[in-house]
Amino acid sequence: MHLNARHTAGLLLAAMVAAAPASADDGSNSYALATPHPEATAVGEEILASGGSAYDAAVAISATLAVVEPYGFGLGGGGFWLLEDGSSGEAVMIDGRERAPLAATTDMFFEADERASLDGALAAAVPGAPAALDHLASEYAERSRRDLLAPAIELARDGFAIDERYHGMAEFRRDVMREGGAGESLLDAGSVPEVGDTLRQPALADTLERFARHGRSGFYDGPIAARLVAGVRAAGGIWSRRDLRAYEVIEREPISAAVDGLEITSAPPPSSGGIALVQMLQILEAIDFEPVTAAGRIHTVVEAMRRAYRDRARFLGDSDFVAVPSERLTDASYNDRLAATIMRDRASPSPLPPGAEQGGANTTHFSVVDSDGNRVAATLSLNYPFGSGVMPAGTGVVLNNHMNDFTVRPGEPNAYGLIQGRANRIEPGKRMLSSMSPTLLEQADGRSAVLGTPGGSRIITTVLLAALDFADGASAHEMVSAPRYHHQYLPDRIQYEPHGLPATLVGALSRRGHAVYEYDRQWGNSQIVVSDPVAGFAAAADPRGIGSAVANGRVGSR
Ligand code: DON
Repeated sequence: MHLNARHTAGLLLAAMVAAAPASADDGSNSYALATPHPEATAVGEEILASGGSAYDAAVAISATLAVVEPYGFGLGGGGFWLLEDGSSGEAVMIDGRERAPLAATTDMFFEADERASLDGALAAAVPGAPAALDHLASEYAERSRRDLLAPAIELARDGFAIDERYHGMAEFRRDVMREGGAGESLLDAGSVPEVGDTLRQPALADTLERFARHGRSGFYDGPIAARLVAGVRAAGGIWSRRDLRAYEVIEREPISAAVDGLEITSAPPPSSGGIALVQMLQILEAIDFEPVTAAGRIHTVVEAMRRAYRDRARFLGDSDFVAVPSERLTDASYNDRLAATIMRDRASPSPLPPGAEQGGANTTHFSVVDSDGNRVAATLSLNYPFGSGVMPAGTGVVLNNHMNDFTVRPGEPNAYGLIQGRANRIEPGKRMLSSMSPTLLEQADGRSAVLGTPGGSRIITTVLLAALDFADGASAHEMVSAPRYHHQYLPDRIQYEPHGLPATLVGALSRRGHAVYEYDRQWGNSQIVVSDPVAGFAAAADPRGIGSAVANGRVGSR
């Protein structure tokens, strides 16, 4: 089928247009950005408006998010920064994904308490964010690390206002934060701070200052490193000083492909995002029937999702440890064969033990373009809200719980209900498989997009749906607002957002043999910049979150 099928996508979009926030769609300023927090947007805009580059803005925005979204990202986490040079068009991904500690073992969670890979010190992998930020600042940014970190330090020291999102996440993880020590900085005498309260993080401000002064050694060596290791070990974890010293950021070649006139550039392993995205798009292009109804289209997209997520479980892991068949999986002829197994009117089975429920989660994404056409898409994470809840004393740094993204127990689903394979088993120093998918899209007519989202296992399908809408000519705010649906092979069901699919469609999909399930809340928090050679920039922040976007000098979504 053709990737653009305006008639059916229009039907999905119609439901949200009335509720959609405003976005900036015209004007002539030459930068645009969308971030999940107004403070981060303000910091990024200030840099871009004063002539800073997208890379400068990316360093400052990342550091600001580490302060104002301590539930989503921080120095104790990791992420992927996808960069594209405006003049050469060359793209690179900075891989700051966390690694398993050197004392980690494949079976370390086999007999452990079920929550051990989620809550507390064993759940925390060795952070990559500070090394990646230092690399981005020293190799790509024009301004000094100290200048770029100054706004974040100020927000940590002087405080920022607690918003509803913070409040909700802290409610969800309050007990884990109390237990792990993060509560001392991030709760108010053990209780969740009220919306509007000012949150000051003096210890984090000190750590950021040290990092600004010394770069990576200010975090991975010296007093901060000593406190991190002591705190982790006191809480039952297995980090050593060597883990921190040995952490390396890696520059990786992105996954790229052209499918039906759409050029895709996205995250390579240890993310599963780029490969799965290309697989789904190639499968859809190869479908030899044209779905004529909305149900037919969703059925077809879901069957593409099912096949890509099956391959994710079978083949994907850290390519520095296992042979990942990236080329085969993104080869059109391979995906043609997968497409040929899709039945027009019948759901395919997903034969493996059934999966489990997904839990609540958080992560973050921002998108930036500057006046030279440099582009940054960054998806950053601690995994669960407030990560493991562990904050070693005297650091102000909340540690991630990314050990749960590994195959924690063979055949058992992780916190996102994903069944994972041997390729993603725990090994010392290995990066855990991710779904984070910072992505760049470009069409033959010169329209391009910078996009990404949090959402755990639903990240890749959220980006896919946005890419299909983009191919259909949708605007940035249509892309962030459209209702979402998802299938991940197991559990074998289509999940959709509350009120996201009309009953007639649910009925039509059920008759094809799909289990169709209305999820109890929305997911994702997409931040998208679209650039059009005629209309200029448009940027939009997902109305599900509290983010904000600026394009052409005008403020976009709230
Ligand atoms: O790297 C990953 O795939 C996950 N740890 C991302 C977690 C996430 O997006 C949670 N967001 N709602």
